[in-house]
Amino acid sequence: MTVQIRPAVLDDLALIRRLRLQRSSWLAARGSDQWSTRAAGLSIDYFARAVSRAVAAWETWIAEVDGEPAATITINDRADRELWTSAELADALIVHYLIVDFRFAGYGVGQRLLAHAAALARAHGRRWVRLDAWTANTDLHAYYRRAGFRLVRVAAPRDPSPSCALFERHVDDWLLEGGPISTPAGFPMTQLARDPIVLPVSG
Ligand SMILES: CC(C)(COP(=O)(O)OP(=O)(O)OC[C@H]1O[C@@H](n2cnc3c(N)ncnc32)[C@H](O)[C@@H]1OP(=O)(O)O)[C@@H](O)C(=O)NCCC(=O)NCCS
Repeated sequence: MTVQIRPAVLDDLALIRRLRLQRSSWLAARGSDQWSTRAAGLSIDYFARAVSRAVAAWETWIAEVDGEPAATITINDRADRELWTSAELADALIVHYLIVDFRFAGYGVGQRLLAHAAALARAHGRRWVRLDAWTANTDLHAYYRRAGFRLVRVAAPRDPSPSCALFERHVDDWLLEGGPISTPAGFPMTQLARDPIVLPVSG
């Protein structure tokens, strides 16, 4: 089984939208309010607009497992206001909208995409991968802890947000595991985004 990570293009928007809807239903069936609009999660249309801007800026990626689209991630240096300090933002790349199709759950595809974020962060001279997770979803927090992240704090922005559990991992931690893929420093994001990376996946 191989995983290929490639930049998303506009034709992938329907896929990304489908993944979001699929996992929203999965979350609701588990009794979680993550991503539900009643808990102030993004509407599917707002989400789709945000992702289409990210795709246009080459910030969104697709992981294909044996050629089949299986997951997505968006990586940039922005976050909602008052989550991270400007110093924390300046030294990190931020992960958004990480979703693995549940048909491919359990193969470590999510962790491969997080390693990809670390590779991009290193290439941009940033030392941290950071993300905000749904505050109330402790099972999701446990996933990020198992992926080597630590809870920094729960933010309290003036505009209340349901996604305020702030996690981070230092890029050097991935090196200790034999990754991430090294990429030359100083490349602009768009040039990085045009280089597909092929990774083996065990299991
Ligand atoms: C998080 C995610 C990308 C990880 O993908 P992955 O690396 O392939 O890992 P898996 O899907 O096998 O998940 C690993 C474990 O975490 C759990 N988990 C993952 N996301 C979870 C969530 N949002 N809520 C509760 N549990 C979650 C899974 O149920 C699984 O538990 P198990 O080992 O007991 O079966 C994927 O599970 C997913 O798309 N989750 C829903 C969307 C999501 O929450 N994305 C993160 C937004 S910050």
